[in-house]
Amino acid sequence: MTPAPPRYKTAESLAGQMPKPIYVLSGPNLNLLGVREPEIYGSDTLDDIRVRCERRAASFGHEVVFRQSNHEGELIDWVQEARTNGSALVLNAAGYGHTSVALHDALKTLSIPIVDCHLSNPAARERFRHFSYVSRVAKGVVSGFGAVSYELAVEAAARMAAAVSA
Ligand code: DQA
Repeated sequence: MTPAPPRYKTAESLAGQMPKPIYVLSGPNLNLLGVREPEIYGSDTLDDIRVRCERRAASFGHEVVFRQSNHEGELIDWVQEARTNGSALVLNAAGYGHTSVALHDALKTLSIPIVDCHLSNPAARERFRHFSYVSRVAKGVVSGFGAVSYELAVEAAARMAAAVSA
């Protein structure tokens, strides 16, 4: 006879049901969204974007770890944290995406899906924005849709994470 299943949820079964959060990391100068070149980056503040990301992630059963830093090393620390604690990473590395080999190296250590995210479309801007150290190691890129880029990136991250864990 097979033993009756437990009437309560064990720590193991709960752990299996709760997906790890999606990390949404933003790089330098994105704390100034809303006032920084609104004709390029829009009028939403980073806090507005956080709310949009949380809502979109929640519709896929995910929580979000949403952080911004102007410091390359701090972003790298958070990428390393996402490696073990996250189910996917959405990264708008801002200017560091065009310059940071160290961030690129950190991203290469991740096995979770990475989505490279931009408010503007760097490919349609100055030449120095055309190269990205992030997109080379990302699963995909979402750019050019303002704050909506973040929402789309979170949705892509959630779908990719589900595909990985299925
Ligand atoms: C950006 C584009 C980058 O080229 C720029 O350095 C940024 C923001 C974007 O979201 O459009 O700071 O990543």
